[in-house]
Amino acid sequence: MEIKKQKNLCGELTVPGDKSISHRAVMFGALAKGTTRITHFLEGADCLSTISCFRKMGIDILRDQDDVLVSGKGLHGLQAPREILDVGNSGTTTRLISGILAGQNFSCELTGDASIQTRPMKRIMTPLGMMGADITSLKGNGCAPLRIQGKNLKAIHYSSPVASAQVKSCVLLAGMYADGITSVTEPVLSRNHTELMLNYFGANVTSAGTTASILPGPVLEAREVAVPGDISSAAYFIAAGLLTPGSEILLKNVGINPTRDGMLKVCRSMGAQITLLNEKQDGEPTADLLIRSSELHGTTIEGEIIPSLIDELPMIAVMASFAQGTTVIRDARELRVKESDRITVMVDNLKRMGADIEGTEDGMIIRGGNPLHGAQIDSHMDHRVAMSFAVAGTICDGPLTIQNGECVNISYPAFYDDLYRLGGTVKS
Ligand code: S3P
Repeated sequence: MEIKKQKNLCGELTVPGDKSISHRAVMFGALAKGTTRITHFLEGADCLSTISCFRKMGIDILRDQDDVLVSGKGLHGLQAPREILDVGNSGTTTRLISGILAGQNFSCELTGDASIQTRPMKRIMTPLGMMGADITSLKGNGCAPLRIQGKNLKAIHYSSPVASAQVKSCVLLAGMYADGITSVTEPVLSRNHTELMLNYFGANVTSAGTTASILPGPVLEAREVAVPGDISSAAYFIAAGLLTPGSEILLKNVGINPTRDGMLKVCRSMGAQITLLNEKQDGEPTADLLIRSSELHGTTIEGEIIPSLIDELPMIAVMASFAQGTTVIRDARELRVKESDRITVMVDNLKRMGADIEGTEDGMIIRGGNPLHGAQIDSHMDHRVAMSFAVAGTICDGPLTIQNGECVNISYPAFYDDLYRLGGTVKS
C-alpha cells in the first residue's frame, strides 16, 4: 500500500460500527431467547470470527440487507461444536468466548492465527480456574490453542491485576453460569460495554467504582442493537484532520462512551479543535465529531486515562511525532501484548521516518517536530499500526509504503476507500 502527502482532507464520513460492541451483540444475542437484530454491525474479520464460532455452536446468524440477525437459543442453548473454533486474530473473541465456554456442558478447542497464539491467556485461565473451570493451554505456554471443558462454576470475587475489559467480561460471562454473585475488581476502570449491554439484554449487572458484579442465571431476551461508530476507527481521521493543514472532517455517529473517549481528551490537551455535535445518550452515548486542523503540542499521557485510549496509542504516537514539544506515554505496558508489540513496532517504524522517539518499558518518549519523511513501514500484520502509518503518509514528505497494509480488514475493511474519499492518495 502506498500513501502520498495530501494538501487537505475534507468531507463527511460514517466510520464502521464499534468492534467491541459488535462482538458482544453477537455473543449476547446467541445466549438470548429470540432474534436479535444488529444494525451497523462491523463487518471486520475479527467480528466475523465471532460469528463463525457461534455458528459452529448451532446458532443461526443471517444477514438482512445491512443488518445481522442472531437467532438466540438461550443461556443453555449452545451445542458442542464438531470442529475447532477458529478465533482468527481476535483477542476479544478468544477471551470472551472462553468465559461462556467455561460454563457449558461440553468440551471444545479454540485457536487462532500466529499472533493470537502468542497472546497471554493466563490472565483468563487464572480466574476461570478459580471458578472451577477446566481450561488448558495445549502447548503449555499460557497461550492458545486452548481446550475448555465446561463445568459447574463457583462464584468468585476476582481482583484482576490488569485493567482489561476482556478479562472482566470473561469472568462476568462465566458468572452467568456460576452458583452465586460473581464480581471483578480492576485496578482502573476499563471499557464497560459488557455491563451496559448485558443489562440491556435483561441480566443483572451492577457497577460500583472499579467493581462489576453479576447475578447468575439471567434470562436474556433478544434486543435490537444499534452499534455506534467506532471511536477507535474514528481516531485515524481525527488525527488526519488535525494534522493536515486546511482540513475539516465531520465524523458522524461516533461512540463517545467515557470509558473509551481518552483520545478526545488527549487531542484537546494537545491543542486540538474538536467540536461535538448532535450528542445522544441512548444506551451508548454518541455524537458527530467536527475536526478542524490544529497546531498540536506535546503532552503527558499516564494513569487512569490509559485504558480509555489503549487502542489509540499507536495513532497518538504518530500525532506526537508531528506535534511540537515532548510527549511522554507511561503506564501502557499492555501495548506490548496487543496484536503486535506496539511499543517496539511504533518506535522502529517512526524512527525509519526520522522521528526522535524512544521506547520505555511501559510507553514511549517522543520529541516531536522533527520533519518526517516517507519510508517502508512494516505493519507486522497489525491493523492499528497499518492505519496509523497511512495517516502519517498523508502528512510526511515523500511516499510511504506499508507492508501487508491489507490487514486493516481486521477492524476497518473500507479504511483506504474512506481515506481516498476524504481526498487522500492511496495506491495498492
Ligand atoms: C477490548 C478490550 C481491550 C482492547 C481491545 C478490545 C474489548 O483489550 O484493547 O481492542 O472489546 O473488550 P484488553 O481487555 O486486553 O485491554
